[in-house]
Amino acid sequence: MQLRTKRATSLSGHVTVPGDKSITHRALLLGSLGDGPSRIEGYLHGEDCRATAGCLAELGIDIERQGQSTILVRGRGLNGWSAPARPLDCVRSGTAMRLMAGLLSGQRFPSELTGNDQLLARPMDRVILPLRAMGARIRGARDDRLPPLLIEGSPLAGARHLLPVASAQVKSSLLLAGLYAEGRTEVVEPGPSRDHTERMLEACGVTVHSQDLAHTLDGPVQSLQPLDVHVPGDFSSAAYLCVAALLVPGSEVVIENVGTNRTRTGLLDLLREMGADIAEENAHLEGGEPVADLLVRHSSLKGISIGGEVVPRAIDEFPILALAATQATGETHVRDARELRVKETDRIGTTVTALRALGAEIAPTPDGFDIIGPTPLVGTLVDSHDDHRLGMTIAVAGLVANGETIVLGAERIADSYPGFAGTMASLGAEVRP
Ligand code: S3P
Repeated sequence: MQLRTKRATSLSGHVTVPGDKSITHRALLLGSLGDGPSRIEGYLHGEDCRATAGCLAELGIDIERQGQSTILVRGRGLNGWSAPARPLDCVRSGTAMRLMAGLLSGQRFPSELTGNDQLLARPMDRVILPLRAMGARIRGARDDRLPPLLIEGSPLAGARHLLPVASAQVKSSLLLAGLYAEGRTEVVEPGPSRDHTERMLEACGVTVHSQDLAHTLDGPVQSLQPLDVHVPGDFSSAAYLCVAALLVPGSEVVIENVGTNRTRTGLLDLLREMGADIAEENAHLEGGEPVADLLVRHSSLKGISIGGEVVPRAIDEFPILALAATQATGETHVRDARELRVKETDRIGTTVTALRALGAEIAPTPDGFDIIGPTPLVGTLVDSHDDHRLGMTIAVAGLVANGETIVLGAERIADSYPGFAGTMASLGAEVRP
């Protein structure tokens, strides 16, 4: 599928974005293990979360859709999953695979986690090795770096893990395994990664002690309370609307009810440092997560240097940040972001290729990129490499490029942001199939 976008004159309006992908995955998983039905409102009907729901169905969990965006997950308790008859297909979702690896390691049955070619190329040693240190019988079907993952299910014991990279998927996998482990599981991160698992475990009645970058949980946990959650709008989806409004002259856009958890909003800090006018209004807590409306006005941006602790807090936003930097005055340098190389695509490589095709001055480095701006962009046909975040970045670039921009592989946008094109169009952008 292709998406065609044209230069926009101004964007305006009040919109919402679909529910948070990370929180939806966690609500599905923890809800399925709760003692009774969990109600999830604002659930994301994206392809990635559909993969997690599909795996849970294989594990005997009943998920009932109630209206537009509410689902009921009929939890059957911490030991209520039943042995799957076939490999569990995580499709493209790294979050599904890594979080489920932790949970499946402590079950009393064997299982296999698999996915499509894109996921089968993503590193899994980062969960295999620490899970094994807890007694898990888990290995890669080909070697220990890559999926499919073969898991026997075995008794687990708590362990102390010093993570080499700040990864919420790895941290979560280990804490979730810790629910089944005898004794204390401790995960120490090198930097702050998203903390939705810790918050949702607390909502289920499990105490997770977090001090600075160390998180501990005492197991085995006897039961999880069912959830009644309202999933906030996904900040990572709002990011595309924010940057679109900042770049298109005359724009003023309000994005309502967006999750503003600090472990996710590194992009806000970076854009403000670049000179962005973004206000947070109606800030409040919803189901243990901070939420606010974002008021974004067109702004002149300047280049900045990026590295250190903000990087994991903005890890999914570097393609769209790079686009913003191509329109900023001066140089932007991104460092410490080597993790981008192992996302759905090598996002250093694919971001550079896509933005260069549009005329940007951007060069890769081993752990980031260097960008010189502002550069006029010229619309053309650009491949999203089957990466949802790249697809949306190219579409937003088309709003400031001369001529027509065509996004190739735009169907992947539905992995995290179904309805993206419709929302852009409602703000006044010309975005159509
Ligand atoms: C996610 C964590 C991040 C992020 C991904 C979702 C999660 O990955 O890139 O899109 O839901 O825990 P890492 O934890 O590997 O950095």
